[in-house]
Amino acid sequence: MAIPHALVIPFCAQGHVAPLMEFSHHLADHGVLVTFVYTEYTHRQVKAALPENFSSDYAGRIRLVTIPDGLSTDDDRKDACKLLSSSMNAIPSFMEELVLKINEKDEEKITFVIADGAMGFLFDVAEKLNLPRAAVWTASTWTLATLLNIPMLIEDGVIDENGFQTGDKMVQLSEGVPAFRSAHLLWLPFEDTKITEIFFKCVEKSGESMKGISHVLCNTFEELESPFLHLINNAIPIGPLLPANKAKHQPSSIWAEDGSCIDWLNQQPTCSVIYVSLGSTTVLSQHQLGELAIGVELTGRPFLWVSRPDIMGSFGGAAYPEGFMERVGRRALIVGWAPQKEVLSHPSVACFLTHCGWNSTMEAVSNGVPMLCWPYFGDQFLNQTAIVEVWKVGLELEKEDDGTVAKEEIREKLELVINDEGIRERLTHLEEKGKKATMKGGASARNFEGFVDMMKKGKMSSLEH
Ligand code: UDX
Repeated sequence: MAIPHALVIPFCAQGHVAPLMEFSHHLADHGVLVTFVYTEYTHRQVKAALPENFSSDYAGRIRLVTIPDGLSTDDDRKDACKLLSSSMNAIPSFMEELVLKINEKDEEKITFVIADGAMGFLFDVAEKLNLPRAAVWTASTWTLATLLNIPMLIEDGVIDENGFQTGDKMVQLSEGVPAFRSAHLLWLPFEDTKITEIFFKCVEKSGESMKGISHVLCNTFEELESPFLHLINNAIPIGPLLPANKAKHQPSSIWAEDGSCIDWLNQQPTCSVIYVSLGSTTVLSQHQLGELAIGVELTGRPFLWVSRPDIMGSFGGAAYPEGFMERVGRRALIVGWAPQKEVLSHPSVACFLTHCGWNSTMEAVSNGVPMLCWPYFGDQFLNQTAIVEVWKVGLELEKEDDGTVAKEEIREKLELVINDEGIRERLTHLEEKGKKATMKGGASARNFEGFVDMMKKGKMSSLEH
């Protein structure tokens, strides 16, 4: 049997590169050769974030390659409109060139393409090259279901043809599944309507493309999202996607991890620490940062806060309220970027103040950590609904009229979430189900093995719709 060779290609953002690299590790562990594609820019970021002496256990089994993203060196990649348009316009032809080049020279030809579901426009390239294809979907299956139902949402008048809502309504995709606010559709929660327009085009295309493929591999598990998994016949749960090995560093982080926080966590009492991390892109105003700092300080508890060097956007690193650092002293540790999976699995952690990115959500659920939700954009609002209203494993922060979350609200909800026994019980149950799913013989493990088996037997193309 020839070794299958997968081209794995994520969207160029932290929340996509990390799960697709994790997925690639699992493929490699199952005997699949992987060519992992970064954009040149992301690769530079990832390389800069790794320690100098980094060497991968997967060298030879996972080949790291780069393609351009269509932007010039000076272009601002934080401009979501620019990044999305150039990805849609430029990446397909660069990917095609790459596959043709590898398959012309290399004996180990690419035998199929596994693309990030967010890059639906790449499935046409795979089809053109006559290669079998599969998707990895990095957000929730609920979010996936909204994309696949875009035509129905337009027909029912929930949104117009450009994706904009016609009024804030409650939406139920099918009988028996939870309802949600139309304002929380993936492409709507952005300040700039131009982002919504281009993002909608991109996800509409992704939704259409994913309907035509046999395997949309989802970072979720049956017991967590069964109503949505049952709505989509090609959605295959393979999660929670957990680290395939114990290597401290992976070439998938765009910021350098500060491992000192694990030593610090080791010194804290069990279940005492508030972990604060608002993900890889959230930006806070000076006022909001101050309220957050004081809110956490007021709890009197130890806290670990990930405050990225660009947490205040173009204003750069955080400017904390006067006297804050002196007052919190050794009770607090503030780092630029943490080894989050390790942090969330640490016994000292009591709760997670999170932006509700899907990876963070899965990491918290897998480790039984209660969440205080503070979503910012995209799918994070729907994830919050799942956390707070469907699974009931976290609480939501109320905003003031001007959109600020006040310090008192932060302090109060942190106390509530830490002391809520019901939340802990429900999490223990989900954590166990998640562990079982990925253990040998578990449903997610069997789905993954079945997928690899099909690749090995070369049966993928026959399964495509
Ligand atoms: C975004 C979306 O919000 C998410 O739902 C989608 O699936 C991918 O794009 P992002 O905002 O980056 O993702 O958040 P999240 O999905 O939570 O991913 C962040 C990743 O960075 C997580 O895997 C987390 O472990 C990691 N991280 C975060 C660190 O390793 N260290 C940190 O300090 C903070």
